[in-house]
Amino acid sequence: MKGLKLIDKEENKTIREQQKRGEQVRNPFESSEFKAANRISIDVTNMFDAQGPGSLGRKDVESLIPEVVKAHQMLKDGEGDIYDHGIAMTGWQDLPVEISEEHLAKIRLITSELSREVDVFVSLGIGGSYLGIEATFRALTHNYFNQLTRDERGGAPEIYFLGQNMDPDFFRDTLDMLKGKRIGINVISKSGTTTETAIAFRIIRKLMEGNWGNDADRMILVTTDGTRGALKEMAGKRGYRTFVIPDNIGGRFSVLSDVGLVGLSMANIDIEEFVAGFRAMRDITSGNDFWHNPALVHAALRHAAWRAGKKIEVVATNSASLYSVARWMEQLFPESEGHEGHGLWVSPSLYSEKLHANGQMVQQGERNITETFLLLKEHDNRIRIPKTDNNLDGLDFLVDKDLDMNFINRMVVEGPAYAHYKGSVPNMTIEIPRRNGFNLGQLYYMMEKSVAISGYLLGHNPFVQPGVEAYKEAMFALIGKPGFEEETRHIKDDLAKMRHMRI
Ligand code: PA5
Repeated sequence: MKGLKLIDKEENKTIREQQKRGEQVRNPFESSEFKAANRISIDVTNMFDAQGPGSLGRKDVESLIPEVVKAHQMLKDGEGDIYDHGIAMTGWQDLPVEISEEHLAKIRLITSELSREVDVFVSLGIGGSYLGIEATFRALTHNYFNQLTRDERGGAPEIYFLGQNMDPDFFRDTLDMLKGKRIGINVISKSGTTTETAIAFRIIRKLMEGNWGNDADRMILVTTDGTRGALKEMAGKRGYRTFVIPDNIGGRFSVLSDVGLVGLSMANIDIEEFVAGFRAMRDITSGNDFWHNPALVHAALRHAAWRAGKKIEVVATNSASLYSVARWMEQLFPESEGHEGHGLWVSPSLYSEKLHANGQMVQQGERNITETFLLLKEHDNRIRIPKTDNNLDGLDFLVDKDLDMNFINRMVVEGPAYAHYKGSVPNMTIEIPRRNGFNLGQLYYMMEKSVAISGYLLGHNPFVQPGVEAYKEAMFALIGKPGFEEETRHIKDDLAKMRHMRI
């Protein structure tokens, strides 16, 4: 038998996009037509009056407007509980207009030089030093990027991520993928001391040095604090090329900083277009006219749902590419809101898959759920449904009506949106016109502003993560890191006192 040919299938537009980016063909992101065709919208209809426990009405949101507008003004004026170690952590607000063309050009230059030298690029980092890059990369590229030819990738190297977990099998398997290849890396850590990132860096660096000696240093990029930290010091000593995470921008707000831009540029993603999306949403969300500011509306809807007793926000999407963006939201919101017993648990879900799993819970389980759909309006590709000889599955009507997989996939959101609403799950649909950097930039900025407002509404600082620091410290203590002797003793005493039980 011969191998499969994709009979009657058009070329894959995602690959075409990648190739165009490689040839530096750009979307016309400055034109008003492009901006008008790439407007993100939020359908809020199903948030209101879902019958049953925890139902919320329009008035619940309207009564929040004065508080939300006040919070927005405070955010813009740099007031309130927004400091970390004496620094107002709101640098992400104006970053879109502060990034210079020269800086973007420098990133392009360094990454295109590195790209020419390597077969594979590995991004090392965790949390905010990882998720935004992976989310954007997966959202905009082919689902099997690394299995494509270099030409199909638009000239980009293969892209991998390490440091986001300490699973030795996953690590080893990834090393197998790097075998025999020239590799470049970007090690990203603002603190420069995160255990997972540091260990991943150690292992990869050792391998690189073992293979190429001092020549390996040219293939190592470092993204860290501008003045301090272990990574900064090491980069200085070894002469690694470094990029900076600004002091006033926290990890989960850093995708537009060098944290995100370097990796995205390695994947040939148009970083200028990405920045333009952030700028566009910064303009759209600058005013205090509530119903015309999607960030304010988004914040108010989620807060009203939380006040009405919702504990879980299912973030569901009909796009495998946008699933990673839901995962980015899973970090942005809970890491910012989860203080003092507050906040919504974000559960990323890819539909249809999850409709056949926790979809049952969403429809009929405990009524503590609100839902946000990320609806991709236009997919890159169209898949037509073929006719059969016997219509045994009863689906020939779709073919007769010229309805394709794309139509069915839209119903994968519209169907649950209706059914879940009827089952007392208030839901909103954020419609993203198509997969491009401009739209992702817009979406990210809107979410960042929304979660910042949420912090004011909940009454605590959304820019700090003492809970995450607590685990980092406990881990330092448990692995016996020098300097943490007292914590090690304390934890060991505590553990000794507990009544352990294993069955
Ligand atoms: O949002 C955050 O601040 C965190 O998720 C951090 O990004 C994460 O803990 C990684 O920290 P670092 O960049 O210091 O290694």
